[in-house]
Amino acid sequence: MSERRKLVAGNWKMNGGLAANQALVQALRGGVGQPVCDVAVCPPPVYLAQLQQLLAGQAAIALGAQDVSQHEGGAFTGDVSAAMLKDFGVRYAIVGHSERRQYQGETDLQVATKVKRALAAGITPIVCVGETLSEREQGLTEFIVRRQLSAVIQLNGPCISEIVVAYEPVWAIGTGKTATPTEAQAVHAVLRTQLRAATEQADRVRILYGGSMNAANAAELLAQPDIDGGLIGGAALKAPDFLTIVAAAA
Ligand code: 13P
Repeated sequence: MSERRKLVAGNWKMNGGLAANQALVQALRGGVGQPVCDVAVCPPPVYLAQLQQLLAGQAAIALGAQDVSQHEGGAFTGDVSAAMLKDFGVRYAIVGHSERRQYQGETDLQVATKVKRALAAGITPIVCVGETLSEREQGLTEFIVRRQLSAVIQLNGPCISEIVVAYEPVWAIGTGKTATPTEAQAVHAVLRTQLRAATEQADRVRILYGGSMNAANAAELLAQPDIDGGLIGGAALKAPDFLTIVAAAA
């Protein structure tokens, strides 16, 4: 576990604007210093060019996207390809977020294909898995997250040593309800075991936790042996909160 450098990524979701982004990045750049973890921000795609400029000349904060097309290019109106993201300096792409699985009907196979596209372009996919409240109540948590990750492993084989996984219990996203460190660690350990069966490099793969992680609860979550960082929603929009989480990952 010690060889994994933690990653704290902010998923801005459909928030922000030119002025707000500038103020937020300015505050982040001013406060981040030389973090001992990797840090990334994932703005909406129309702002990637702006963010690339705002983040120029520093190495502490990397740029991420919130999605990537499953297609390489062509007649796919509205899609953004991995190569296009790469053009704007994107290092990470969130893939299979539960909001896309829910509202855009993304399937496990589409998610796995997106992972393949990202990897082929040299972008690190942050692959989200997680169960809904009713799935948890039915005792299906392990089954669901294993099924979601399994599709990615099947299509990508040993390349999955290059991905980042994010465990985001759907019931914890934007609700203020967090998985306890013990609950989260238990699922992370399941995912680690699954990765070990697929690659000898499984101990290099970072497994982030996401779901109401905030300045107050981050340190305890990040202290768990298989929690290698955070995927932060709401708290990523407030510079002091996000920077506190980054500090907690140190
Ligand atoms: P919140 O931190 O707002 O719960 O969102 C988590 C998330 O979905 C990050 O991808």
